[in-house]
Amino acid sequence: MEKSLRTPIKEIIAGHPAVGDILEEYGIGCVPCSVGTCLLADIVEIHNLSPKDEGELMARIAAVVFPGQAVALPQPRKDRAAGPRMIAYSPPMKALVEEHGNIKRFLALVPAILERFDPASEADRRQMLDGVDFIRSYADRFHHAKEEDILFACFDPGLDILKAMHEDHDRGRAHVRGVVEALERRDREGIAAHLAGYAGVLSEHIKKEDEILYPWMDRNLSVRQVGELFERFLAVDERFAEERKKYESFVGRLEEAYAEPIPDRICSTLEEHFGKES
Ligand SMILES: [Fe+2]
Ligand SMILES: [Fe+2]
Repeated sequence: MEKSLRTPIKEIIAGHPAVGDILEEYGIGCVPCSVGTCLLADIVEIHNLSPKDEGELMARIAAVVFPGQAVALPQPRKDRAAGPRMIAYSPPMKALVEEHGNIKRFLALVPAILERFDPASEADRRQMLDGVDFIRSYADRFHHAKEEDILFACFDPGLDILKAMHEDHDRGRAHVRGVVEALERRDREGIAAHLAGYAGVLSEHIKKEDEILYPWMDRNLSVRQVGELFERFLAVDERFAEERKKYESFVGRLEEAYAEPIPDRICSTLEEHFGKES
């Protein structure tokens, strides 16, 4: 079992696909991860499983990898009382989670934007470029830069989880370039494929950061480092204050524009009830 703990998870899953299913049951999505060089031991550490879940998970993986053999399992760490769902973020991490909230508000509108988008309409093309501007300025230049230049720099850049996060940012940037190029061609299909692709990458990425990366980082940062992060984030927030307001109100306006229209049947009921306005 010790050797398995030091084996890249993709190798274990390639030899024993059932291990991927077991990890999924514990909310550990290694199968779709494009990096997959994380070691089994790191995965258990990063996901902060309770000692009970960690013991069960290891026993189930051992039964798949070493069927019918008595295997000495590693002792779960007893100081891991909190489960992965009970998350108390430090103030700087909380600020990043709040920024994710604004990005997710935009991502939630993507299906409606694409449904109504007409590449022949000048207004629609301008609005699409405004969306691209929000992604490039708020999500990337403001939020991702805080992560890449400040937060990730507190950790060893060789860590697989950080490589996976950088890779997600780059995949997102490539999709945004794809949206702009397709927009120049007025290629509706291309715009839809890249914008939906971006929304898919970012939604998964944000979930990984909120539920796995940030809590793991919080557990590994000293109080002094958290304080430094807080100060450095504040300096970025101050520099970006005006733009931040602009982009947050852009999302608000978009939400209003794409608010669900009141269904006809409700309108007629209201008319019956209150009388039709003349
Ligand atoms: Fe990120
Ligand atoms: Fe993020």
